[in-house]
Amino acid sequence: MENINSRKVLVVVYSFSGTTRAAAETLIEHYDADSLEIQASQYEGKSGVWIAGMQAMRKIRTTPITPETTDMSQYELIFLGSPIWWFSPAVPLWTFAAKNDFTNKSVVLFNTYNSRYREKYINEFQDLIEARGGSFRDHIAIARGSLSKRGSAEVRQKLDSLLFQKENIYEQNIGEVSGADQ
Ligand SMILES: Cc1cc2nc3c(=O)[nH]c(=O)nc-3n(C[C@H](O)[C@H](O)[C@H](O)COP(=O)(O)O)c2cc1C
Repeated sequence: MENINSRKVLVVVYSFSGTTRAAAETLIEHYDADSLEIQASQYEGKSGVWIAGMQAMRKIRTTPITPETTDMSQYELIFLGSPIWWFSPAVPLWTFAAKNDFTNKSVVLFNTYNSRYREKYINEFQDLIEARGGSFRDHIAIARGSLSKRGSAEVRQKLDSLLFQKENIYEQNIGEVSGADQ
């Protein structure tokens, strides 16, 4: 635990309706992490969800986001989170991944979803992270559960138990990264 608590972790999240944000908050608390929330103006407002669906269906991976980049030099482990849209991580997270440099970073993708996602797109996301210099460590997929009102609480609970199982993995990864830096 000492090792876990002394590393620097950044949680980057895009959330359309709050569920992935709840997952991010669990991660932020768990790892005492810094955080960054991505905004995507195209999907705000009345027709936002429709535009999001259309673009995700067409496999568009670029949309205006704020911020586009962030200084990640002080972090070793980066969590990147979004909902699943049309079986794939949401468009704004692809945009963020494409615009940032993950050299010497361990990256974990986390997604919330209702029913299905495709491994193919997770693999493509991993390829993008690796093309941007990062080391892709894991994918955490959290099914939101059928009761939308309880959705966020369920996500927190599931992620808490997942993190408990995964703790050792990240501790190891962080150890490796720290070792390489010395
Ligand atoms: C445009 C759009 C497309 C979606 N496509 C999928 C999908 O392909 N598979 C799935 O399981 N859930 C899909 N969902 C559901 C979301 O992934 C799920 O509700 C997620 O937890 C929402 O996270 P958020 O509240 O952080 O936006 C979609 C939601 C939206 C708005």
